[in-house]
Amino acid sequence: IAIQIGLILFAYLIGSIPNGLWIGKVFLKIDLREHGSKNIGASNALRVMGLKLGILTFALDALKGALPIIIVRILKTTIELTTNIVIFEQAYDYEIIFGVVAVIGHTLPLFNHFKGGKAVASSAGIVLTLTPIAGVLCILTYIIVVILTKYASLGSTLAAITVFIAAFIEFWLRDILLEQLFVLIVYSFMILFIFYKHRENYKRLLNGTENKMSFTKKKV
Ligand code: G3P
Repeated sequence: IAIQIGLILFAYLIGSIPNGLWIGKVFLKIDLREHGSKNIGASNALRVMGLKLGILTFALDALKGALPIIIVRILKTTIELTTNIVIFEQAYDYEIIFGVVAVIGHTLPLFNHFKGGKAVASSAGIVLTLTPIAGVLCILTYIIVVILTKYASLGSTLAAITVFIAAFIEFWLRDILLEQLFVLIVYSFMILFIFYKHRENYKRLLNGTENKMSFTKKKV
């Protein structure tokens, strides 16, 4: 149980690291909270700081969701296999739960007065680790939608829907739908949470005032 509590704290703390914020400060001496949509997530990092720093922010934010899962896997193979002590009885459930704690850290970080991102990149890290096909498809969906419409929020929303459909089809084709039901349920909650975090974006999309992406030279 000490390991579990330690992992939860660890996941929350790494989830809390405001990558977009420090990358802006270190590389461009800007405060991302004062530019673009003022969000500190990867989409706004991409919008304000350009492709390279945007991708770096995405990669580090995604790593926050992936790392707790990777650590559970490493602990399982090292401790459980070498000592015969069972730490994680149902590894899969634990993996996704620790990943979700990191997403919570990302959206409600200890730093920055609990004002974090919109859960997209950190959730993508979980999806890429647990269901890589759905992960790659959701990133492709985001890229295509953002290139076509310039709306990050629309890209994230359709990417989230893609995750559910792709994971469902994959589990169904592999005949592991029941076995993976927990993952699918957690994915559904993550997707609903992402929709909730985008409620202001949807209002702006509807009244035509949503921030657009620009792929020309960065503006700061
Ligand atoms: O990943 C967040 C994105 O979907 C929306 O970001 O900056 O346009 O509010 P933003």
